[in-house]
Amino acid sequence: MSELTLRFWPIFFELYESLPRQGPGNRASAARALAFCGDLPLVAAVLDLGCGVGAQTFHLADLTSASIVALDSHAPSIERLRATVSERGLTERIQPVVGDMAEPGLPPASFDLIWSEGALYNIGIEKALHVCHGLLRAGGYLAFTDAVWRRDNPPPAVKASFESDYPAMGWVPDVLAAIERSGFSPIGHFTLPEEAWWDDFYTPMEIRIEALRGKYGDDEEALAVLNQLAQEPEMHRRYSDYYAYEFFVARLMK
Ligand SMILES: C[S@@+](CC[C@H](N)C(=O)[O-])C[C@H]1O[C@@H](n2cnc3c(N)ncnc32)[C@H](O)[C@@H]1O
Repeated sequence: MSELTLRFWPIFFELYESLPRQGPGNRASAARALAFCGDLPLVAAVLDLGCGVGAQTFHLADLTSASIVALDSHAPSIERLRATVSERGLTERIQPVVGDMAEPGLPPASFDLIWSEGALYNIGIEKALHVCHGLLRAGGYLAFTDAVWRRDNPPPAVKASFESDYPAMGWVPDVLAAIERSGFSPIGHFTLPEEAWWDDFYTPMEIRIEALRGKYGDDEEALAVLNQLAQEPEMHRRYSDYYAYEFFVARLMK
């Protein structure tokens, strides 16, 4: 493993764990997706898969009266979420869990709504849909965001980035077809607006990268990692018309 590779992950986590969220999204989009879930019980059982530090978990707590299990495989994010849950007096409603969404170890058919922003792709959408199918009650809802292509012939930088991070990325109709193949009925979808990429994600990321550049001074390997990480918001600034994050809402009809 090269020195740069060895330095990558600690600096990646130092950056990402400090951000308000770890992927695109915002409260308005969460509210818009939630509006598709018309028949939720008053005190719904919600599972937030790949919750990160919980930006959307807190939106859901705010927008509903639900009790929420918030699961992520990255223990430091769950620790930060747990601390925020305590600070906000939400320990009765939000249960942070370190776990693998591929094998969540949660009781079958026990949730009214599964939520997942920018995380299901980590285990492959088909596998994730299968897991969610098993965890939802009849009539339960699944709301998730996923990166999709929106234009053919992406520039080499965009192509290379997604070939590395999400080689199976498809188009909106591909995801809708996967939803239907998995026994769900799609009930709505929409594209996340630009502010959902910037306000709580790329803008704080760029500010934090600048601060870390100051911290690492003349550590050339660290600066090279930071330059690499800075490419993602820059790519979005130049080429966002080639890809999007789509919010999908589906329902389990058993
Ligand atoms: C792009 S981040 C999104 C985090 C959060 N939902 C948000 O929008 O801010 C993806 C999250 O999925 C988590 N993750 C990746 N693979 C996972 C797995 N197998 N099980 C649970 N969480 C996973 C990562 O730790 C990370 O927090």
